[in-house]
This record gives sequence, C-alpha cells and structure tokens, in this order.
Amino acid sequence: MSSDRYAIDDVAFIGRTVEEYEHMFDLDLSAWEGQSVLDCPGGACAFVAEANTRDIDAVGVDILYDVPPDELHEKCESDVDTAIAGFEGVEDQFIWEFYDDVADVRAHWTAAYQEFIADYADRFDTDRYVDAQLPDLPFEDDSFSLVLSANLMFLYMEKFDYEFHEQSLLELARVASDEVRVYPLERFDGKRYPRLDELREVLADEGYETELRPVPFRFQHGAEELLRIEV
Ligand SMILES: C[S@@+](CC[C@H](N)C(=O)[O-])C[C@H]1O[C@@H](n2cnc3c(N)ncnc32)[C@H](O)[C@@H]1O
Repeated sequence: MSSDRYAIDDVAFIGRTVEEYEHMFDLDLSAWEGQSVLDCPGGACAFVAEANTRDIDAVGVDILYDVPPDELHEKCESDVDTAIAGFEGVEDQFIWEFYDDVADVRAHWTAAYQEFIADYADRFDTDRYVDAQLPDLPFEDDSFSLVLSANLMFLYMEKFDYEFHEQSLLELARVASDEVRVYPLERFDGKRYPRLDELREVLADEGYETELRPVPFRFQHGAEELLRIEV
C-alpha cells in the first residue's frame, strides 16, 4: 500500500448503495422500470437487489459470484476494512462532498454489502448473480436495456492492459440494447485513462456513438464525467 496516494493492492470486492450508483451514473432509476439492467462488475453492490424490488429486471456479473455466500460475506467485511484503511493519511486527496468523512464512506459500503449479501444468499445459483469475467459475457446480443460498469475499468488501469479495456467496452456494448454507462474514467489519483480517445474511436468504428457526460458525484479528484455508449 502506497503511503502518499490512495491505492489498494488487489481489485477489492466492495460495493455501493443505490444512492451512490444514482450519483455516479447520473441515473434516474424510475426511468428504467419494466426494463432489464446489467451491473458488471456487480461486486458487493446493493443495486441488483434493490432494482429488482422496483420492477427492474437487474442482473449482476462478477468474477467472484461463484463463491458461496458465507465465504463471500467474510470477503466483503475484510475488503471494506482494507479499502477503508487505504484512506489513512491521504484523506485530503478526496473531495468530501457526497461523503462527510471516511466513516461515512464505510457506512455506505457496509450498508451496500449487507443488502447485497442478503439477496445473494437467497439467490445464489440463480441467474440473478452470474459468475463470469470480462471481457467475455455469457449473454446474447442486446440482452439488457442498460449496462452499468463502475470501478473496474480505468480505475485499475495499471492492472488491465489496453486490449482488456477495448474488448470489455465492446462486450458491454454488445449485450446492451440501449446504452452503456461507465464510471469513473480515472484511477484513484484522478489521472484519466490516457487512451480513452482511442477507445472511443474504436467504438465509433464499430458503429457506437459515445459521449462524456457530467455526473453529480464528487469524490475522486477529476472524476466528474462518465462514458456513455449509445447502442
Ligand atoms: C471495486 S469493485 C466494484 C464493484 C461495483 N461496480 C462498485 O462500483 O462498487 C470491482 C469488482 O470487479 C470484480 N472483477 C475483477 N475483475 C473482473 C473481471 N474481469 N470481470 C468481472 N468482474 C471482475 C471484482 O471481483 C470486484 O467485485
């Protein structure tokens, strides 16, 4: 763990509340009622559980959705601890607008994983939580109206090469019928993915229009826009 900027060694299995997702993705959930939404990676997010209670056919994909609920619950707890410990000494590198302080971040991420794990335990081995791995998704073309992807691509840019980013965006677009939203476009220190324009050109060559859209969420410096892919 670096001491001068926020960093965690592995991709954390953590998750966000619906409120966080609504801000990160500039999302009006009521607009998607009666439709299907994919959250990839879903991690320990409350999104899939809660969206399904709101007449949205929501599905989550994560590389760890083969892990039994009890074991995954333990990982949720330890990964939140690790992710929260990473803020020590670098709190001033974040914008404390959506969250009050580090304790508030913990409260949100804990609430998210508790809601997630209850639903996951009830629905383990159903088609609501799908064990799969970007850049290959086990879905037909146009399976979901909306596809959301937060806090994997771009954020962990050093862990994944350019090809992973390109193939993953094309895959997310393939399984979407309306649109894809990806957030953030920066790593923790606010550095934007350097080859974003190149990725947008590839998407354009494949017939997808893209735009960078402002979001009403402030936490990481510079992370003020999402990538929207229109399908
Ligand atoms: C930081 S969490 C983000 C979860 C959620 N989207 C959020 O914003 O809170 C990153 C997630 O990506 C998952 N993951 C890592 N590599 C993956 C891959 N190749 N395909 C799908 N999920 C992956 C991890 O298991 C972890 O749950």
